Amino acid sequence: MKRTHHCNELRPANAGQPVVLEGWVHSRRDLGGVLFLDIRDREGRTQTVFDPSDLPKESFERASHLHSESVVRVTGKVRLRPAGTENVRIPTGQIEVMVTAIEVLNDAAVLPFSIDDPEVASKVNEELRLQYRYLDLRRPEMTRNLRLRSKVAIATRSYMDENGFLEVETPTLFKSTPEGAREFLVPNRRDPGTFYALPQSPQQFKQILMVSGVERYFQLARCYRDEDLRADRQPEFTQVDIEMSFIDREDIYALIEGLLKRVWKTALDMDIPTPFKRISFEEALNRWGIDKPDTRFGMELVDFTEEFRASTFKVFSGAIASGGVVKAMNAKGLAGATQGQIETMTEHAKGFGAKGLAYIKVENGEWKSPIVKFFTEAEKAALTTKLGIEQGDLILFAADQWLNACEILGKIRLYCADVLKGQGKLVVDPKRFDFLWVVEFPLLSFDKEMNRWYSSHHPFTAPVADDIPLLKTDPKKVRGQHYDIVVNGVELGGGSIRIHQPDVQRTIFEDILQIPPEETQLRFGYMLEAFKYGAPPHGGIALGFDRLCAILCGTTSIRDVIAFPKTAKGTCMLTDSPSPASARQLKELHLEVKAAPKA
Ligand code: AMO
Ligand code: AMP
Repeated sequence: MKRTHHCNELRPANAGQPVVLEGWVHSRRDLGGVLFLDIRDREGRTQTVFDPSDLPKESFERASHLHSESVVRVTGKVRLRPAGTENVRIPTGQIEVMVTAIEVLNDAAVLPFSIDDPEVASKVNEELRLQYRYLDLRRPEMTRNLRLRSKVAIATRSYMDENGFLEVETPTLFKSTPEGAREFLVPNRRDPGTFYALPQSPQQFKQILMVSGVERYFQLARCYRDEDLRADRQPEFTQVDIEMSFIDREDIYALIEGLLKRVWKTALDMDIPTPFKRISFEEALNRWGIDKPDTRFGMELVDFTEEFRASTFKVFSGAIASGGVVKAMNAKGLAGATQGQIETMTEHAKGFGAKGLAYIKVENGEWKSPIVKFFTEAEKAALTTKLGIEQGDLILFAADQWLNACEILGKIRLYCADVLKGQGKLVVDPKRFDFLWVVEFPLLSFDKEMNRWYSSHHPFTAPVADDIPLLKTDPKKVRGQHYDIVVNGVELGGGSIRIHQPDVQRTIFEDILQIPPEETQLRFGYMLEAFKYGAPPHGGIALGFDRLCAILCGTTSIRDVIAFPKTAKGTCMLTDSPSPASARQLKELHLEVKAAPKA
């Protein structure tokens, strides 16, 4: 006999009905000889009652010795719970099932961690949860995440379909791409010494699809990057990848705003206001010290270059004299920062090459700081006004070249926000979503160590048309047609209008990026060739799908929204991959391994 209902279905109206339920033994209580088992399936749980006076002795015995998470089928009759025993926290809390028969479909061994404990995620080591991921995924919170991810994928597909996009799959066995991250290589048995690379994104294929006349492409695409892993980075991840022909930046903004509106409505039943704010790269750095600002709280950076140009404090006036700036921020209420916290902030500053981090603690009516003795009354007055200094504040300074000074304080601002959140002094509404477009990026950035230019986004990004002549004369000034979509300090996605003229593309590869012509031919020859046969103007974007789902689920780790993620070391704890290859496999691939695998 199959189940008649799922475990989140029965209500008072079902009272008196005979039913069959199937599921896992979620929890068990023994109350004065009567046994209560909560049976759980994907939808929820239902309380079942085993009364020895109604049941054959063996059935009762069997039920009383069941381990948690054993799989059972119970037959019984629904009844209203006796007055005063209802459970208002679960939808089936008004009823229970009086069991007349139980069948054990499968026993469960003793569990490595308990599943009915809502605190599992904070109590149990994540590696253990990943090793027993099938148990971890049974937890209602994880089931909810998988369900939400599925809903968002389907909403995305419907929206793209309604807007005339074709879903096209592109190869996973590909060749080296220039997105910048290290790649995973796949040896080719048929031609020793040649390799496929796993795509960092479908970038080149989606552009070729525009040359193919597809006009509107999208894909929920798997991407692979062998980079340092963090909470928001996995070696394989998913993008909502998009490309369109005959469009400009405004078309992309409108499309993505519509998509996110749909997704937020579907997942959270929230109406998010559009259009989103737009902020230039320069303003983002000036005010928040980062190109993906979290604008849900203040503590903005303020410039004091003019005020300190003639300062007797040489760290400040010296930095300004060599073309730098002085910037400061007010960490509101953080005057009580510990020495350890100040040291952590100083480490951030030193990470950017600064010699230190000047600060002022405003406490007991005093400015406590080793540098305050250098400040004139006018300088102090300017600080007080422009930073809104009050008792209990901590003021932090960076004197450096503009980009460094911004980035130092940008990092420290986020660190201070975390400390203040921990102390309950900064409260951010979990239902608040600050979306913004970051635009007007420079097309190129300069790598001092390598003494050459590299693409701020990727080398297919089009320069702003008016700036094309500057490519040859003043590359630093060339603006790119690149945009990032940011929400709550997370870079959700990025894209650009592309170069569609083969000569401009060749100039970028060879003259600007200094890729030798033979290498350009080897790596991108097929693209330059394709562009000779009528490439339409085009552009696109990719959203990090895992990041999108994590934000919707209210978690900071994308591992929580991926069924089988890898650890920070790139290991799959469940299957124990990567693992050594057999001698036979290596021979077939003409490969020899020189280092022995770590035990
Ligand atoms: P980009 O490299 O900016 O652009 O990637 C787009 C988005 O993908 C997500 N993302 C990641 N998510 C999880 N783990 C990772 N390791 C990871 N790396 C990136 C981010 C990011 O914003 N082809 C271009 C897009 C284009 O130009 O159309 C690209 O891949 O959310
Ligand atoms: P010094 O004169 O080198 O002892 O530095 C005096 C103070 O300025 C110390 O608190 C340093 O941490 C700080 N400091 C040094 N370099 C910088 C810088 N580039 N920006 C901001 N503060 C700095």
